[in-house]
Amino acid sequence: MVTASAPGKCILFGEHAVVYGEPAVAVAIDARVSVTLEPCQGSWKLSGAPLDERHPHARFLHSQLVGDDSDPHSMLVTSELFPAAGMGSSAALSAAIGAALMHWSTGGDELNLEHISHLAHIAEAEAQSGRASPTDTSTATLGGCVLVSDRHEDSADWRWTRTLDTPEGERRWEVHNVTLPDSVRDAYLVVGSTGIHSPTGEMVAKVAGMLERQPDRMGDIARMGQLSRIGAGALAAGNLVETGRLMDEAHGLLAGLGVSCPELERLVAAARPTSLGAKLTGAGGGGCMLALTTEPKATAEAIEMGGGRVITTSLGASGVRIER
Ligand code: MEV
Repeated sequence: MVTASAPGKCILFGEHAVVYGEPAVAVAIDARVSVTLEPCQGSWKLSGAPLDERHPHARFLHSQLVGDDSDPHSMLVTSELFPAAGMGSSAALSAAIGAALMHWSTGGDELNLEHISHLAHIAEAEAQSGRASPTDTSTATLGGCVLVSDRHEDSADWRWTRTLDTPEGERRWEVHNVTLPDSVRDAYLVVGSTGIHSPTGEMVAKVAGMLERQPDRMGDIARMGQLSRIGAGALAAGNLVETGRLMDEAHGLLAGLGVSCPELERLVAAARPTSLGAKLTGAGGGGCMLALTTEPKATAEAIEMGGGRVITTSLGASGVRIER
């Protein structure tokens, strides 16, 4: 028996823009997806059901890492994340499945993080009609704070390159870890869920349609990328006030792209008086918002009063790991 877990993520800057090659910044959070692998009778299973087309990510990882001739096992999944809510639950699930299968099939303690992240990204891209950045899957795998960029960034630790053929042409991303200073421990993220399920692929396709109809909106995408680069610098310098201000600006740009909704606007407005900055996070259209705050209790209460369910987390949890 083996159990692996991977963290969810929150995107602080650059969601949607990163699909078009602009930079994005994400942090791993203290809420995880765990997968336990146990021998079973018959065929491979996921949470008691056959491993069929209802579980494309898991099937892909299984075919790449162990194949059909392997001894059947059951994958039991538990999650502390809100599902389909922009917290990276499918990326965390893929990373945890990848780690559990790799550990079981190789018998070694070393996990090849780049390989896990690569496979998880391909699985994610298939589920998002070919348009997926490596942000969620890299954050679930590496943990900490991740900067995905169109170039090597001197200010961060480069980890790997990811490329993907998308409907808009080939994209290339350089994936880095940003070291967070100790002062960031004074800050928390309060994630507020609207309770509205929002499939990432649909929101990504919606933005693609809008950019086709209104190509001048690419200017907003470029500004979102700038905010990511400046925001990564502010975070690395421990400048929480500036980070929050930039998050507010990023939210305005995302709303302008049409990926906010009245419920997200209500939670963002509720959080702002007690936080340094607040914005939607992930694909939008529902899902979650997040607030950067040094008063997590007050911010969480305000979001709950606005109708949201909350998770409070520090910034930069550890990445995918074998638990036992
Ligand atoms: C989803 O968490 C983030 C998006 O930018 C999509 C992606 O990066 O693949 C909306």
